[in-house]
Formats: sequence, C-alpha cells, structure tokens
Amino acid sequence: MKRLVILISGRGSNMAALLEASASGELPVFPAAVISSSSDAGGLRIAGALGVETRVVDHASFDCRAAFDEALAGTIDDFSPDLVILAGFMWILGDEFVRHYAGRLVNIHPSLLPAFPGRDTHRRALAEGVRFHGCTAHFVTPDLDRGPIIAQAVVPVFDSDDETSLASRVLEEEHKLLPRVVRWFAEGRLRMVGGRVCVDVD
Ligand code: GAR
Repeated sequence: MKRLVILISGRGSNMAALLEASASGELPVFPAAVISSSSDAGGLRIAGALGVETRVVDHASFDCRAAFDEALAGTIDDFSPDLVILAGFMWILGDEFVRHYAGRLVNIHPSLLPAFPGRDTHRRALAEGVRFHGCTAHFVTPDLDRGPIIAQAVVPVFDSDDETSLASRVLEEEHKLLPRVVRWFAEGRLRMVGGRVCVDVD
C-alpha cells in the first residue's frame, strides 16, 4: 500500500477527507503521518484522534526558508512517503525541496488554475465577476501554482454569493476531488509524461 504524508497549516478539512476515506477502506493508502507548519493547527487534533502520527515543523522557529525546507524534508523522509500532499499548506516551498519530491508532491488549490494563483482566491473570483469557480489538484513544481494539472472541479458562482458561501461550495468539491486524485495515484493510474498528466479515469 502506498505511503502518504499530508502537510497542513490549519483547519485540516482536506486532510480529514483523506484520512476518513483511508479509514473506511475507500482509499487504498497508508497515512504515515500528518505534518503541520504550526503547533496550533486544528488538523493536528483530528489526525491524532484518528490514530495518525503527527509532527510539527514550526515555520515561526526558522529564520530562513532553506532551513525550514530542510527540516521539513527531513521530517517527511523519516516516513518514507510514496506521495506527499499539500492539504491547506500555506507556505511557499523552495526549488530544491520541490525537486526532491518531483512527481510525488500534489497540492489542492481553491481556484480553477491558472486563474487566481496565490491567496484570497474566492475574494478575487467574486471581484472579477466570474460565473464559474472551483478547485484544482496539481503536481507541484518550482513555479508557484503552475504545476501540471491533474483534475479540477467546477462550481457555479451566484449573484448572492459572498466569500464564505463561495468558499464552502468550493471546499465541498475539494473534499471529493483530493481523495479521488490520491486514489488514482495509489492505483497506479496517474502519471506524468513529458510534464503533462495522464490519468486512466474511472
Ligand atoms: C483549502 O481551501 C485549500 O484548497 C487551501 O486552503 C484551504 C485549507 O483548508 N489551500 C491553499 O490556498 C493553498 N494555496 P483545510 O485546512 O480545511 O483543508
């Protein structure tokens, strides 16, 4: 069974979706560890309650990104993961870190990339007046939020939406999309060919 390490920074609802799918047998992966960049991330308690090993590599205690990246990679590699998931991990990772995990580092992002990379995606989507929004699962490359796209889910944007309602509609899709993509990886149906993603879909 493929070994999974999940990186979080906060609430951890995407992490929870993965752990619950794994616990129910829907997702054939072994969640080896959850690693948080902050000791007060709510997701740590959820992971602990589900019996998953947790670690903290506190971003605040490093004075440069390279030192944080090195400590984080050391902690991740203690668990020998086949796949590392950025599930609401809010720090930019350096080129060396990203290359070390090439082809086995996946991020979930709350927009239809390449639209709205970076932060505040829902606020920016509303400001632009887009009629459709969504989320993207993609392989991570050194180019922020520009790695090869694996899959996306689309939601409508309503005139009555505010950031909260739109975020929650998108999040609901994230919780379905991420476990689906991880399952493809676990079943050997997801690969990168020449920088493009190939999936044998369900
Ligand atoms: C999710 O919406 C995720 O897509 C986003 O943060 C949220 C974390 O929620 N990630 C990013 O913005 C990364 N650039 P969660 O902690 O409940 O999974």
